[in-house]
Amino acid sequence: MTISSFPTNQDLDPSRLRKAFGIFPSGVVSVAAVIDGVPVGLAASSFRSESLDPPLVSFSIAASSKTWPDLRRATHLGVTVLASHHGDVARQLAGEPETRFNGLAVSVSDKGALVVDDGVAHFDTTIYREVEAGDHIIVLLQIRAVEHPEAGSPLVFHRSAFGRLADSA
Ligand SMILES: Cc1cc2nc3c(=O)[nH]c(=O)nc-3n(C[C@H](O)[C@H](O)[C@H](O)COP(=O)(O)O)c2cc1C
Repeated sequence: MTISSFPTNQDLDPSRLRKAFGIFPSGVVSVAAVIDGVPVGLAASSFRSESLDPPLVSFSIAASSKTWPDLRRATHLGVTVLASHHGDVARQLAGEPETRFNGLAVSVSDKGALVVDDGVAHFDTTIYREVEAGDHIIVLLQIRAVEHPEAGSPLVFHRSAFGRLADSA
């Protein structure tokens, strides 16, 4: 064994941290619902699976989000794992709130959960818990239904850019 040393105390400014966090690759989801007749939602790369029993997933949302106070009022939230061709869709879902769903093909459940058509997976969820985490809120979602085709290539977010898995179609 060779033991080297590494720094344990640094000035952690946000842009340096953002860059470091971006080294870890992730997928991108849409989290959305129809609220008072209007589609509301956003793109999130902080999605992950948490628990099988009960079935839980999570994402984290900036505490400063203008959308979350509305979105959290939804009884059901739709989560779509975006497909590799959804780079522009992900950007649009992070843009001006009023135009996020313009021109998109979506499906809406009778409880108002909204999913983007031709994503690689769809979840119908309800909010299980919200956990304060610094300048973000970790939102735990309980899965009520799931749908996914057998094949499909996810959108990958890495170092602030969109890509795809090398060995997927
Ligand atoms: C690829 C991608 C991933 C994102 N992931 C997150 C995320 O995990 N959490 C978050 O709060 N915002 C994330 N955003 C930003 C949101 O989509 C949105 O732009 C932001 O929340 C500001 O809008 P709001 O004030 O309506 O929430 C992401 C944006 C992009 C393009």
